[in-house]
Amino acid sequence: MEQADLSQPFIKKVKAGGKSICLVHHNLQLFALSATCPHAGADLSQGWCSEQRLVCPRHRYEYDLQTGKGATGQNDYVNTYTVKVEGTDVYVEINSWTENVRSWFS
Ligand code: FES
Repeated sequence: MEQADLSQPFIKKVKAGGKSICLVHHNLQLFALSATCPHAGADLSQGWCSEQRLVCPRHRYEYDLQTGKGATGQNDYVNTYTVKVEGTDVYVEINSWTENVRSWFS
């Protein structure tokens, strides 16, 4: 659980379930993605938003905020997580690896 001021856009790194999560508040929507860029390991929480994508600060690869899918030609992705807001408290749902695989086929 993390507290957040949702009156302003932000990008910040938080810990949830032992993972580093990039929490993004953009265009009045909240997103949670892995904070580690799959290209070369940069911290995505140091990046910025362009359209509906998170841009990596190191080599400017872009990841869809909703799906985590990399831009055309990148052939990569970052994990995304479900977020829930209760008042000023933000909860990030961390699924196990097997739960993620199961969701791909349901
Ligand atoms: S480390 Fe993120 S694009 Fe290269």
